[in-house]
Amino acid sequence: MHGFRRNAQGRACLGEAPLSELLSQSGLETPAYFYDLDAIAHEARALIAGYGNARHVIAYAVKANSAGSVVRTLAAEGTGADVVSAAELEVAVACGIPAEKIVMSGVAKKDSELDFAISSRLLAIQAESVEEVFRIAARARALGRQARVAFRLNPGVEIDSHAHISTGHDKAKFGIARADVGRAFEVVDAAGDALVAVGLSTHIGSMLGEVAPYLQSARHVCEVARARRTDHAGLEYVNFGGGFGIDYGTGQAAAPADFGRAAVELLKTEGLSDLMLVAEPGRSMVGSHGVLVARVVQSKVSAGHAWLMIDAGMNDLLRPALYGAKHRIEPLESEPTLPEWRVVGPVCESSDDFGAHPIGPEPPELVAIRDAGAYSFTMASEYNGRALAGEVFVKNGMILGTSPSPGAAAWIKRRLQA
Ligand code: LLP
Repeated sequence: MHGFRRNAQGRACLGEAPLSELLSQSGLETPAYFYDLDAIAHEARALIAGYGNARHVIAYAVKANSAGSVVRTLAAEGTGADVVSAAELEVAVACGIPAEKIVMSGVAKKDSELDFAISSRLLAIQAESVEEVFRIAARARALGRQARVAFRLNPGVEIDSHAHISTGHDKAKFGIARADVGRAFEVVDAAGDALVAVGLSTHIGSMLGEVAPYLQSARHVCEVARARRTDHAGLEYVNFGGGFGIDYGTGQAAAPADFGRAAVELLKTEGLSDLMLVAEPGRSMVGSHGVLVARVVQSKVSAGHAWLMIDAGMNDLLRPALYGAKHRIEPLESEPTLPEWRVVGPVCESSDDFGAHPIGPEPPELVAIRDAGAYSFTMASEYNGRALAGEVFVKNGMILGTSPSPGAAAWIKRRLQA
């Protein structure tokens, strides 16, 4: 038994362990994130199964959750990593992910990051512009090494997701546009030994609920791959990106493994099955398997509104404020029931508002904010002098480790030194 569930008494648990007991065992203050490492490992296995016998690398997008315990759990399942900074690359390597399973994305990789990536001999640096390909060649020459590059293609595909997380359309800053792909290959070919083009990738955005747009962009990648291979060797992989959605409580059409199965089928149809398949899932690996536990500070009933003020805010979970996302919030020790309360955080911004949730007649002591495994801690800030929250890693219903909050004292000290 793993993941978020209610036990027979209606208490919120991770696996068999009630979250309130995990909280007291951890010794941490609220708010605190709890992650179920068994559920994450299980999720990885389910996703990997979708690729069957096809040669593949699941390059976990570390930006979703970069906690060492999480990355090590995924590394043990054989995943690679998609990183977007030198710091994420260091974490991935230190957690045991082999360099040959790591890709680096990002539209503005600094020279120091390119140097680190080139020296680390990654599977590829995924270039997002022709200008970047020039820069990678220059850095490779300066280092006297060969850089393995891939092109992140921008297929010009619109998806049905929030504008902030749609990346594959014509106006996005991401990727190399169709019209520029030829020029990008010319740069590689003119760079001699400094560059080798090993892959083609794309990533059209996040929270995809269906496979169709994913396949549409994947077909574009295949088209470019075929054209390149008619007169050049060297291509090793195609990468159709990540973006597989999860169910935040409103229903989710496609399961993560559906994307893998569809990708394998597409490569067959396109006659490209000898290429390795890479995917870059982040959210789907971890999102459902984290819970942010918060304490109710007070309630406020006024002018026909019932508010519940909690000690977690938009600095701990930015998604509602930034994307209008709704994360289910439930009492920790009892099933959610009507009436609804408007749950808000302590931060001095009107957008520090988690929406209305069925909490029950009386304000509970503690609440669970669900599906906080991805893009929660990693997007957190210390706004309003609020230290980053602590994290608790749970395996087999037991605490494997904790990462305590740096605490208010550390924040005060740094501000006073500034
Ligand atoms: N590959 C690239 C190049 C990406 O930029 C991303 C996510 C991924 C893979 C992984 O996407 P995923 O499978 O996690 O959807 N903060 C937003 C999501 C931003 C995603 C940014 N890039 C959120 O909380 O919804």
